[in-house]
Amino acid sequence: MDRNLAINLVRVTEAAALGSAKYMGRGDKNLADQGAVDNMRRMFDTMDIDGIVVIGEGELDEAPMLYIGERIGACKEDSPKVDIAVDPLDGTNSVAKGIEHAIAVVAMAPRGCLLEAPDTYMYKLAVGPKAKGVIDLNVSVKENMINIAKALNKDITDLTVTMLERERHEDIIRDCRELGCRIKLFRDGDVAAAIATCFDHTGVDVLIGKGGAPEGVIAAAALKCLGGEMQGKLTPMSNEEIARCESMGVETNKVLLLDDLVKGDEVYFAATGVSEGDLLRGVRYLPNNKCVTHSVVMRSKTGTIRFVEAIHNMEKKPEYAR
Ligand code: FBP
Repeated sequence: MDRNLAINLVRVTEAAALGSAKYMGRGDKNLADQGAVDNMRRMFDTMDIDGIVVIGEGELDEAPMLYIGERIGACKEDSPKVDIAVDPLDGTNSVAKGIEHAIAVVAMAPRGCLLEAPDTYMYKLAVGPKAKGVIDLNVSVKENMINIAKALNKDITDLTVTMLERERHEDIIRDCRELGCRIKLFRDGDVAAAIATCFDHTGVDVLIGKGGAPEGVIAAAALKCLGGEMQGKLTPMSNEEIARCESMGVETNKVLLLDDLVKGDEVYFAATGVSEGDLLRGVRYLPNNKCVTHSVVMRSKTGTIRFVEAIHNMEKKPEYAR
């Protein structure tokens, strides 16, 4: 795939972030999501790809745009055939409430390389490059934390474990506290939290816990680019969800390794901050009808990580204006 596609992917997440940020704190998560979806969809049309959405906004009957199976991009005869995973807004509630950690995010890989994850929960464990090779969802939380601390050459009391603030994580929290680990809870957005494990300045060493399976695949794409590691296990909550996993051919009792989630080494990932986060700044509005976005884009093949700060002139982009 042409490496310049990476830069175009940033345009896609920037557009989504701008479409969503204008609804910051307005109390309507659907509007915030719709703003992101509309802009992301429009920007994809400008890309020279023949893309199929494998992770998207839902099935065709649930989502008119960016639905699973939708063909997107210029789709010319010689356009690269790719899988696309999108979360136009990871953190819809965060934007509705005007709180941190919302991002617009996209992953892309050659056709057949991204797991078509059903919309169930996934139990996730993610670490940065220094702890690669020591995690195992088949062993206990405590064993994992001890092994990760060892790999990072840290005292267990200096290990910072992050997870969604949810009742379902009480057991994990108890186990981590018994070991003396630090815990950093967040309200929404586990894609950004998984990525944070790969950057020292975030102060986060491990992401653990149940979040959306589609978000799990997207996070795995980022971790592949960053040289980190992630494992996931689908945890369907109803017979309907079990049937859905079966119909999609995804095993529910198996630990999915990074290569099961994202095959090969030709993955692209881009994200733009919508609200402030540890990794990316949110969209900032300047007085002169301009606004600033902060994004990251990466490619697994070269391992290059680019942070992109862009100033957008809203007079020339009326469709993004507040
Ligand atoms: P949305 O933006 O789709 O609401 O997702 C936010 C999120 O926090 C994800 O990052 C996470 O994987 C999932 O929700 C967790 O689901 P739940 O809110 O049901 O615990």
